[in-house]
Amino acid sequence: MEKIIDESVQGQPLVLDQKKENQRKLFIESYGCQMNFSDSEIVASILAKEGFNTTQNLEDADLVLVNTCSIREKAEQTVRKRLEKYNAVKKINPGMKVGVLGCMAERLKSKFLEEEKIVDLVVGPDAYKDLPNLIEEVDAGRNAVNVILSKEETYGDISPVRLQSNGVSAFVSITRGCDNMCTFCVVPFTRGRERSRDPQSILEEIDDLAAKNFKEVTLLGQNVDSFLWYGGGLKKDFDKASDFQKATAVNFAKLLDMVAEKHPKLRLRFTTSNPQDMTLDVIEVMAKHKNICKYIHLPIQSGSDRILKEMNRLHTRQQYFELIDNIKRIIPECAISQDIISGFPTETEEDHQDTLSLMEYVKYDYGFMFAYSERPGTLAERKMEDDVPEEVKKRRLSEINELQRSHSKYRLDALVGKTVEILIEKASKKSDEHWSGRTTQNSVAVFPKENYKVGDFVMVRIDDCTSATLIGEAVGYSENN
Ligand code: SAH
Ligand code: F3S
Repeated sequence: MEKIIDESVQGQPLVLDQKKENQRKLFIESYGCQMNFSDSEIVASILAKEGFNTTQNLEDADLVLVNTCSIREKAEQTVRKRLEKYNAVKKINPGMKVGVLGCMAERLKSKFLEEEKIVDLVVGPDAYKDLPNLIEEVDAGRNAVNVILSKEETYGDISPVRLQSNGVSAFVSITRGCDNMCTFCVVPFTRGRERSRDPQSILEEIDDLAAKNFKEVTLLGQNVDSFLWYGGGLKKDFDKASDFQKATAVNFAKLLDMVAEKHPKLRLRFTTSNPQDMTLDVIEVMAKHKNICKYIHLPIQSGSDRILKEMNRLHTRQQYFELIDNIKRIIPECAISQDIISGFPTETEEDHQDTLSLMEYVKYDYGFMFAYSERPGTLAERKMEDDVPEEVKKRRLSEINELQRSHSKYRLDALVGKTVEILIEKASKKSDEHWSGRTTQNSVAVFPKENYKVGDFVMVRIDDCTSATLIGEAVGYSENN
């Protein structure tokens, strides 16, 4: 520890209790899901206490951390490309250290150090609190690895540093890990078993965001609807909880209700909902509170019952339709988006047609669609042959994409002529004269700035739309402002 004397404050020497490394600069970037972006904010907070300030400039960095994604092979290739870039920078700045965080770190463990010579540090998603020790190791000239997964919610007590925040929207993690074991998915292996965070600490984080004037919070989990707090521990051990713990347990519907009740001015979102875990009481809580956004991301993956079974998705096509019908009955204006995988092993043309007909029934507002990518260690990789040819996966994917585009347009067209509430988030990418924000249904809208500002809730009359964006004009503040 070194005392730093700053004499610049009105001539009075100011003694700051700071660590020697105070001048160190951290460059941190994230790939993959929102959870990674949220985790990087936790990492920045842990390292701020160690005297690291973040920088947007790779060339200036003493420490470069990349938070990685393993969900598809392409996501991993993107990270490998970035490592090449770091390598080039390291030639100019040899003191720079490089660490890999997140799912690739967990999947590859110390193999990473052998495969990528540039890497000094490998840290899995549950081990970020160990970063100060690991960095000391690296400073001493040794490589450092910690990929131990945890049984507890790991970072409930850390208040994240909001990186590159617009000051309007923030993510709050509420569960970690996933117990679902979909056969194509690497997440249960890289993020461990499912556990939930203490509602008290969730509420405190949201109180703090509201006090800082944030307007929108997204509750995050690989599988948010299976949130269950009973005093700590893994979800799978709930059976062993005491009668008192069971009686006082908080499920997702209850948590959502509590947050919405406490912060009626805050827009609330949540993601992601696995259909098998989404219950009617969640939809009823959404309907009850105006401030819960009328939007559900509800991945289906495939419209074929046979493929759903092979994927270990624990619901049928029919049950999914029933869920959609219930959502639309309880919240008619609710927007729904999907994830779909084309070309899962054994998928036939008929299975693919089932996916298209399911899409036709739901007419999703939006979608995230990908060709199947075999992931090492998953059940599908071990038990099934990746037998759908690449060009067939691609062709099916483009048919799915095209259908989704027409459905997105259909949903947006229905809003033309209506006046909707928009929360302004940033300047439009295409024009500096326009604001960009989202409706409660998560559709993006752009409109002339006038005198409005970021963070305002504005009523916008929609005059037109493209296949992905609403175009309109503000007619005044919303009552929520
Ligand atoms: N429960 C999480 C799932 C994370 S994975 C969530 O819904 O966000 C996100 C999406 O990536 C999945 O829904 C799936 O559509 C896609 N995905 C996962 N593994 C994949 C794989 N091996 N190949 C192609 N897409 C995959
Ligand atoms: Fe992956 Fe299925 Fe969980 S897609 S994250 S194993 S719900």
